Amino acid sequence: MDITKKVWEILLTEEEINNRITQLGKQLSDEYRDEKLLVVSLLKGSFIFTADLVRKMDIPVKIEFMTTSSYGHSEASSGQVKILTDVGDDLSGYHVLVADDITDSGLTMKYVMAHLSKKNPESVKCCVLLDKPDRRVVDLVPDYHGFTIPDKFVVGYGLNYGDYFRNIPYVFVVTDKDR
Ligand code: IMP
Ligand code: MG
Repeated sequence: MDITKKVWEILLTEEEINNRITQLGKQLSDEYRDEKLLVVSLLKGSFIFTADLVRKMDIPVKIEFMTTSSYGHSEASSGQVKILTDVGDDLSGYHVLVADDITDSGLTMKYVMAHLSKKNPESVKCCVLLDKPDRRVVDLVPDYHGFTIPDKFVVGYGLNYGDYFRNIPYVFVVTDKDR
């Protein structure tokens, strides 16, 4: 990766992200106030989003993590979803909210939600920071989302590029200089 051949543009600032997550946290707290809520965070991409989101919620929250196979170093999905780390088999009594950084093709979220539905939960919904609807290949509309974004490769705030940049506190778009 030669980063000097790329153009980096800020898409969402720290303040915009923080304001939107504050709203989402309030909305989700109201939605799940009387329920037993389990947030399932999809590693690695959603670790920052989940950490910020649950701290904007004023209700008791149980948190688990799952790891699914990812894009690796490529910018396009292989279309294959594999669960590398799972949560327990019995989710009875829990309302499950799957948290992820972005829904792109929708394959990951669709697969994970179907997988978790088999564990006998009360409900399964999802919340993603970024929704890229132009890239969808399955019928999935996130139950909650922070921002709808164009069909661009985005990095930062948990999203990686070549295994790096997850720690950048805002979201930016990376494009080739000659594109
Ligand atoms: P999907 O299965 O195609 O919806 O994509 C799922 C995963 O691909 C996301 O959870 C991200 O980890 C990764 N991904 C999708 N689009 C981007 C992007 O623009 N930048 C970085 N990672 C992405
Ligand atoms: Mg991911």
